Amino acid sequence: MQGLRTFFLALICATLPMMAVAQDRLVRIYAPDALIESGLLKHILPRFSLKTQVRTQMVPPDQADLSFGPTGRAAFEGLGETWHLKLTPDHRPAQRLAEWILSDVGQRTVTGFAPQGAALFTPPQLRTVAAQPAAPDQDAVIGRALSETKCGRCHRVGRGGVAGIGSTPSFAVLRSLPDWEDRFSTFYVLNPHQSFTIIEEVTDPFPIDRPATIHPVTMTLEDLTAIMAFVTAMGAADLGAPLQSK
Ligand code: HEC
Repeated sequence: MQGLRTFFLALICATLPMMAVAQDRLVRIYAPDALIESGLLKHILPRFSLKTQVRTQMVPPDQADLSFGPTGRAAFEGLGETWHLKLTPDHRPAQRLAEWILSDVGQRTVTGFAPQGAALFTPPQLRTVAAQPAAPDQDAVIGRALSETKCGRCHRVGRGGVAGIGSTPSFAVLRSLPDWEDRFSTFYVLNPHQSFTIIEEVTDPFPIDRPATIHPVTMTLEDLTAIMAFVTAMGAADLGAPLQSK
């Protein structure tokens, strides 16, 4: 088995003509030159292939099952842009690759690419959310209601509100984390949400084909802005007993 894997890895790394591979074991990928030249794909794709035995091949844009570019689902940032994934509908191996890139492991692999010692790529941010911290009061009220309907199924979102599921962190606990803002603005790519969250015009073009075991959360970027306004307004005072003491 080890020998076989090494063999596959060698094949992937070499830019030799490849033997014919069953369609369900191959993702044909298009990426702009800048992304290829960065070396990121050579870093992440062999890891994906090793784990899944799905091979990848770089092709021109019109032949691609999965394209990196300005449209589709935001996957990571770097080189001054946000890189999105666009998939051929119903192409299972391409969906597996996209799901892997968006997963915790995939995102760690992307951010772990640091050829000069510093990470070149970071998880995608919602610039629209970060850029306009809207008038808190009005939005916070809407945000609270949205949090209860969209997130309250699992999270305890406020005091005395819906109870949530015990094992899921409450919004108050999440709010107390130093990087809460990052976590909320990217929650839809963080586990477990990416398998059930649809944000209009952000995640839409990505048909998630994992069996939908739970009811999806559907929302807009405005909804997320409002939810973040609510969480912002929760502030340290609402957190009750401090989580960490010196
Ligand atoms: C079906 C259940 C479910 C729903 C609905 C849900 N979450 Fe979560 N969320 C979870 C679980 C479980 C975790 C803990 C994941 C972990 O610790 O790996 C989590 C973690 C988080 C985190 C922390 C993520 C991290 O890894 O740092 C944020 C932020 C978050 N959720 C925001 C939201 C928001 C906002 C909504 C509503 C729009 C929402 N969640 C809806 C189950 C859910």
